[in-house]
Amino acid sequence: MTWWESAYRCGHVNWDPGEYDGHLPWLLDRFEIRCGRVIDLGCGTGKSAVWLAERGFDVVGIDFAPTAVRQAQALAQRRGVKVDFRCGEFPADFPAGSFGETDNALRLGAFDLAVERGFLQHFGRGRQLQRALRRIAQLLRPQALFYSLITAREGNRRGWGSSLWSEAEIRAAMQELFLIRYMELSVFTPGEAGSMPAWLSVMSPK
Ligand SMILES: C[S@@+](CC[C@H](N)C(=O)[O-])C[C@H]1O[C@@H](n2cnc3c(N)ncnc32)[C@H](O)[C@@H]1O
Repeated sequence: MTWWESAYRCGHVNWDPGEYDGHLPWLLDRFEIRCGRVIDLGCGTGKSAVWLAERGFDVVGIDFAPTAVRQAQALAQRRGVKVDFRCGEFPADFPAGSFGETDNALRLGAFDLAVERGFLQHFGRGRQLQRALRRIAQLLRPQALFYSLITAREGNRRGWGSSLWSEAEIRAAMQELFLIRYMELSVFTPGEAGSMPAWLSVMSPK
């Protein structure tokens, strides 16, 4: 069992905002994103994925914690929206071949938007991260956007060790595959008192 799965089972999920990511309304508005296919990477309990589906997006959510995925599916059912939630490890369980003819929903080059909040920051700085980034870039259409929210090292007094990132580290990690179109120091959970600083980036594939 992964650390994440045991956290979801115990309910010790301090990253979970209890609602969708509060930056999403700004993202849709600022980049005039009105419709299309979205993939939520490390979707957790699915609140952002469901919120996007309620706004008419065709959404796939991926997470490797079965408890989180079950909660996400139950939330979508309660709210009466269709979201394609998948339980599996990214990118290992989603190799290029499986995005092919047999799995139309996950085919490469088919997404208009990828979102991640607190997911990529746990992939380290090396090969594992680059593999994940390459797969994200492959999933996106040429004009698509990639929204990322990563807890910041700058101004952070609370720790979280290697999962804290500086602006320079994020720029260095992304530069080969993505063009950064917007970047600002925000917070991990808007509206939450004392929320951790976080780097909000909006990118497109190169
Ligand atoms: C900090 S939580 C954020 C969850 C959600 N994005 C949110 O904002 O509430 C990180 C999530 O990524 C998932 N995760 C981490 N590594 C993963 C991987 N390699 N493949 C799929 N899911 C992963 C965890 O199970 C967890 O749900």
